[in-house]
Parts: sequence; C-alpha cells; structure tokens
Amino acid sequence: MAYSIAVLISGSGSNLQAIIDRIEQGALHAEISLVISNRPGVRGLERASKHGLPTLVIDHRKYSTREDFDAALVRAIMDRGARGVILAGFMRIVTPVLINAFSGNILNIHPSIQPAFPGVNAQKQAFDYAVRISGCSIHFVDDKMDHGPIIIQAAVPAMAEDDEKSLGSRILALEHRIYPQAIQWLAQGRLEIQGRKVMVKDPPDPAAVETQGYPALVSPGLEAGF
Ligand code: GRF
Repeated sequence: MAYSIAVLISGSGSNLQAIIDRIEQGALHAEISLVISNRPGVRGLERASKHGLPTLVIDHRKYSTREDFDAALVRAIMDRGARGVILAGFMRIVTPVLINAFSGNILNIHPSIQPAFPGVNAQKQAFDYAVRISGCSIHFVDDKMDHGPIIIQAAVPAMAEDDEKSLGSRILALEHRIYPQAIQWLAQGRLEIQGRKVMVKDPPDPAAVETQGYPALVSPGLEAGF
C-alpha cells in the first residue's frame, strides 16, 4: 500500500503540484489522502480538486488557540488515514499537538539554506542581505520554527542582476525537485534521525543540476525521476 500523506497549504500550492506530478509520473510512491488549507479559496485547493484529491478548509481564525486549531488538523488527517504530514507553503506555526501526533513523519520546506533566514519572506531576507548563494531546505518539523533535522538542501546562485522575484523563482524551481524526493525517501522508510543528523539510506552523491540555465548543487543528490 502506498504511503499516504496529507498536504497542508495556505496559498498557491506549486509545491503541492510538484508532488502531484511526481506521483502521477510514478516516481513518487505515495498517495495524497487529503489536502488541507487554512485559507479558503486559494489556488492550491483548485489544483487539488483538478486532480480529484479530497480537500478541506480548516480556517485557523475559527479557533481560539493554536492548539485547538492543530487538534482539528490532527482529527482530519487521522480520519483520512494519512501517515505523513507535508507542510507545503503552510503559513502557520504548528504546536506539539500536531508534531507529537505525527512524530518523525512531518516535513516542511523552507526557501533558504537553513539555518539562514528563518520565518516569513526568506527569499526577501536573502535578497536584502545580498547573499551570493541561496536555496531551499526540506526538514523534519520540531517544536522550533524552521529548525528540525535537515533531509536535503539545494543551493542556487544569487546573480547580480537578480531581484527578489527572480531569486525566488530560481529557488522555487529547486523546491519542486527536492520536496518530492524527500517525501519518496520518507515513504520508503529510508530516513533515520540521529539527533540533528538525518541519515538517508543509500543516498545518491551530491549532484549538480540545471535550473533556469544556472547550475545548482543538491545534497544528497537527486534520484532518477526527481
Ligand atoms: C514556497 O516558497 C515555500 O518554500 C514557502 O512558501 C512558498 C509556497 O509556495 N514556505 P507554494 O504555495 O508551494 O507555491
């Protein structure tokens, strides 16, 4: 049986789309049992419906505490029998109520080379700081924001002619590659957490890949189909 996941979104859902595409292409052996948005009417919900996936809006504004909101998420995710929880542009701070319910099975994506630039607008933070290299990270979720053990990172150059948007879209292209890859490793049971370190069983070598004509470094490397 395929590893089932709930994908949590707040907006455009382009990472959700990348996950759907890799599943439909047969590279990612997982099934999406539920897409939850904390905001109604977002594009990610449309993307999910277009692919026949069940969707649910759980509006955080209707809950008086973060814990109550997370308890509603846990109930919905468990009702659908999902084992993994994939935060994909989910713009809420999560609490131990959610984290403990799916310990070791919750992933997040952050658009920086962690530990740089936690919090919102990481791409803008990187641009304002005028870094020459930025990128994205997939990590297990723990009780601190954008902090848990890192599974995979991708680095891209920040070019002199970049603006915040062009840097952000170069990063996003890599997000779409590394998130499905990390989920595949999770689904295959190939990830082992040792303190802060994540061991990937039989990891590919770090590899240079192309994005928008620029080389990017991905570590561990991507496997076929990602
Ligand atoms: C991505 O850059 C993700 O890293 C960040 O929010 C953005 C969401 O994009 N956390 P999308 O909704 O997947 O298009």
